Amino acid sequence: MSLSRRAACVLLLGLYSVFTVDAQSIINETALLVQEAIYLPKPDTAQCIARFGSVSPISVLMVADDGTFSGTSEAVYLIQTLKGQLKAPVNSVPCQQFYTGYLLGQKVVLAISGIGPEAAALCTTYITQCAELVKDFIYVGTSGWSAQQGGILNAPSSCAAANGPTTRNRLGDVAITPFSVNWQCKLASWTEQCTNFPNVCTYPIEEAGPVVQSLYGKCVFSHRTKANTDLSDELIAATKTSQFAANALQLQASFNSTNLAYETAYWSATTAGSGNVYPPFPAYTRPNILDYTQAAELDAQFFFEGTPYEMVARNYTAVTLNLANNSTLTQYDVTGTHFCSLPASDASTLFSRCNRILSGRYQSVNGEEGVGVSAALDLFNSLAGVPKIKYTFVRANSDYIYSPVVQVSPGVWEDSPQTPAANFETSYLFAIQSASTVVLTTFQLRCLAAGNSANACAFSIV
Ligand SMILES: *[C@@H]1O[C@H](CO)[C@@H](O)[C@H](O)[C@H]1NC(C)=O
Ligand SMILES: *[C@@H]1O[C@H](CO)[C@@H](O)[C@H](O)[C@H]1NC(C)=O
Ligand SMILES: *[C@@H]1O[C@H](CO)[C@@H](O)[C@H](O)[C@H]1NC(C)=O
Ligand SMILES: *[C@@H]1O[C@H](CO)[C@@H](O)[C@H](O)[C@H]1NC(C)=O
Ligand SMILES: *[C@@H]1O[C@H](CO)[C@@H](O)[C@H](O)[C@H]1NC(C)=O
Repeated sequence: MSLSRRAACVLLLGLYSVFTVDAQSIINETALLVQEAIYLPKPDTAQCIARFGSVSPISVLMVADDGTFSGTSEAVYLIQTLKGQLKAPVNSVPCQQFYTGYLLGQKVVLAISGIGPEAAALCTTYITQCAELVKDFIYVGTSGWSAQQGGILNAPSSCAAANGPTTRNRLGDVAITPFSVNWQCKLASWTEQCTNFPNVCTYPIEEAGPVVQSLYGKCVFSHRTKANTDLSDELIAATKTSQFAANALQLQASFNSTNLAYETAYWSATTAGSGNVYPPFPAYTRPNILDYTQAAELDAQFFFEGTPYEMVARNYTAVTLNLANNSTLTQYDVTGTHFCSLPASDASTLFSRCNRILSGRYQSVNGEEGVGVSAALDLFNSLAGVPKIKYTFVRANSDYIYSPVVQVSPGVWEDSPQTPAANFETSYLFAIQSASTVVLTTFQLRCLAAGNSANACAFSIV
C-alpha cells in the first residue's frame, strides 16, 4: 500500500468513525437530557465527604475579608478555635480560603469567600453542590450602622430639630437576620440623588428602588422560611444566656481600648451639633442584639455613607422587613444597617458632589455579601428535589454610617467639623470580636448540649 492510499484509507476510516460516534452520541445525549444529572452536575457522595471532611452534616461558617481591608481577618477567632483543621490549597476551590475541622467539637467548614456579593455567591455555590452534607449556614461579618433607631435626622420630618436619643446603637452591636436587600437596584439621576446639597437633611430622590424587578431582577431577599428563622432564633437565644454575658464581658477591655474614646467623641459632637443631649453610655458589658424583626442586610458595592443615604438605608430595611412579615414599618421605625467590605481606597470612586456630602469620614460603610449568599441559597433551595440549606447572617457594627451633624440655619444641616476621625483597624477588630463571640457562644451551647465538659466547650477571644 502506497503511503498516499494508506493515508486516504485512514482518513476515510476517521470520517466514518467520527460520523458514527456523532450519530450515536446525539441519540444518547437526547436520552440523558431528561435526567437531573445534566442540570445539576455535582460531586458524588464520596467526593462531598472528602470536600467537607465529614460523613455527617457540617455547619458552614463564611466570612468575607481575609484581613486585606481592615488588617484583621474576619475569620481570625474562628480559625484559632478550629481544631484538626485542613486548608484547601490556594486556587483549588472558588473561595478565597476554605477550611475543614472541628469547632468546639462540631464538624464545620469555614470559608473566606472574598469581598463582595459575586465572590460570596460563587463560594456559596461550591457549598451547595454538597447540600446533603450541610446542616446550616451562618455568614459572619462586620457592617456600618445607623447611630440610632429612626436616625438623628429624618427628612422630611425632622429637619427643624434632630431626633433626641432613641434606641442608640453602640459599636460592636450585632444584627442576626436572614433578610437582605441590594442597594444597587436603584434608578436615579445624579441631580436627584444630590438634591438640596449641601443640606444633609434631605431624602435623596429616586425613580425606582429595589422592588422593581423588571429593571434589576431580584434585589429583595425577604423570603421567610421557618428553617431560617429557627436558625436565627437559636443564635438570638444564645445571646440571652449567662454564657454569652460572661463571654461578652471579656471584651470590655478591648472595647475600652478600641472604641471608647471614639464613641465618647462621636456622641459629644452629636450633642454639641444637634441641640439635644445624648448622654454617655454606661460601661460596656455586652453588645445589644437586633433580630430579624428589626434588621435586614442592606448591601452595596460602593461606600454609601452620610445622613441622606442613611435615611434610604432605613427605608430599604423597612421595605424588606415589610415584605418578610406583611408589616407596615417605615424608615422612621427601623435602624439602618448596611453591609459591604470594600477597601477604603474604593472611597475615591464616589462621585464628586456626593463625595462632598459624605466628606469627613471615608470610612467603612461596607457590606455586600448577603445578597450574594441569599441569591445562591434561595435559588438553590427553590430547585426541585434538593435538600434545603438554612441560613442566616450575623453582622456586628463596625462604624456609624454618618457623621454627627450641626444645624447651620433653620432646617439646614451639615456634617459636624467635630466629627472624630474613624479608625478602621480598631473598630473592625472589635466588630469581628463581637460577631465571633455570638457565633462561638452558639457553638459552645451546642457543645454543652451534646454532653461535653465546660472545658471542652470553652473558647477565648484575644
Ligand atoms: C445510546 O442510546 C440509544 C437509544 O437510547 C441506545 O440504543 C444505545 O444503546 C445507547 N448507546 C450507548 C453506548 O449507551
Ligand atoms: C472600661 O471603661 C469603663 C468606663 O466606661 C470602666 O468602668 C471599666 O472599668 C473599664 N474596664 C476595663 C476592663 O478597662
Ligand atoms: C411581624 O410584624 C408585627 C407587627 O406588624 C410585629 O409585631 C412582629 O414582631 C413581626 N414579626 C416578625 C417575625 O417579623
Ligand atoms: C397583610 O396585611 C393586610 C393588611 O395590612 C391584610 O389585609 C392581609 O390579609 C395580610 N396578608 C397576610 C398574608 O397576612
Ligand atoms: C421608601 O421611600 C419611598 C420613596 O423613595 C416611599 O415611597 C416609600 O413609602 C418608603 N417606604 C418605606 C417603607 O419607608
